Amino acid sequence: MVELAFSILAADFTHLADEIARAERGGGTIVHVDVMDGHFVPNITFGPPVVSAVRKVTKLPLDCHLMIEEPDKFIPDFAKAGADMISVQWETCPHLNRTLQHIMDHEVLPGVVINPATPVEFLIEVLPMVHHVLVMSVNPGFGGQRFLPRSVERIAHLRRLRHEMGLNFRIEVDGGVADDTVESVVRAGADMLVAGSAIFAGGKAEEKAREFLRIARRATEVSV
Ligand code: DX5
Ligand code: ZN
Repeated sequence: MVELAFSILAADFTHLADEIARAERGGGTIVHVDVMDGHFVPNITFGPPVVSAVRKVTKLPLDCHLMIEEPDKFIPDFAKAGADMISVQWETCPHLNRTLQHIMDHEVLPGVVINPATPVEFLIEVLPMVHHVLVMSVNPGFGGQRFLPRSVERIAHLRRLRHEMGLNFRIEVDGGVADDTVESVVRAGADMLVAGSAIFAGGKAEEKAREFLRIARRATEVSV
């Protein structure tokens, strides 16, 4: 079942609870929370206090995408704040096996993220451990960027690996996913679809979420 993980980075922060409710009414079923530290990526967003606030206004699962150096230090705080999923970047984790175990020890679903320049094969050793793999389809740090077309083949490669290894991790895609790109990623095998500006830019999040999902679900009928 393909799901919309709407990224609140593009939402109107002055009305965050209303924005989340709109996207949820439109069929969004996961809240994607982009955590940036100004070191791993050239931008600063929010941390555990905002996750706790969001936890109070929705029952939807919170999918925390950590674009931060030394994520191990902050995993307990995000777990305590109410994260249901925590994704760490392969590029920031020299001890990734231990980091993923640390997330699981806090009873949170672990995910691993790869930047556009990181080969999919680098994940083979940890694929049996993860709940989901997040393929960045932009270079992380900002919303509203253009989708990188090579991401489609990387998603298909991951799906092949999942099949060959007899695993069942979910495939998430993030960055520039919108009405004109969502079909290609769904057909390649993505089932957790992160979208920020496609849902929140210019308002009407409920209608935009509904239309986005209509296109995404139609694409599930045809897979490459
Ligand atoms: C970028 C973030 C994305 C971003 C998505 O580093 O990880 O989640 O907010 O925003 P759009 O959908 O606008 O590309
Ligand atoms: Zn993200």
